[in-house]
Amino acid sequence: MKEHRGSGRFVRALNLEHLPPGERRVVTLEGHVIALFNTGGGIFAVDNRCPHMGFPLDRGSVKDCILTCHWHHARFDLASGGTFDQWADDLRAFPVIRSSSTSSASATVWSATFRWSLPNP
Ligand code: FES
Repeated sequence: MKEHRGSGRFVRALNLEHLPPGERRVVTLEGHVIALFNTGGGIFAVDNRCPHMGFPLDRGSVKDCILTCHWHHARFDLASGGTFDQWADDLRAFPVIRSSSTSSASATVWSATFRWSLPNP
């Protein structure tokens, strides 16, 4: 497995109370504009710029952890960033962790600006 590093550390993204289930938020972490999604399948962080032609992905739609860009309808797996459409590149996905808290509303979401890539074939 090949590692790509940004800062190599997790940075605070937001308090979970600002990202309720079914919602998305855009944050800037270390110069990266990142869209955070709280889906039924978890919390995901991806580059907010569609790799096809740059549409802001926080304006896309999410169903079953698949993000669809609303410009040309490229589809991406939120967990890996992998595209389902051959004409679009993969989307950069970032790792996310949640701090432990007795109250989910006061939990903190952390993301990192590095990611792990898929193993080379
Ligand atoms: S800009 Fe997103 S699919 Fe074209």
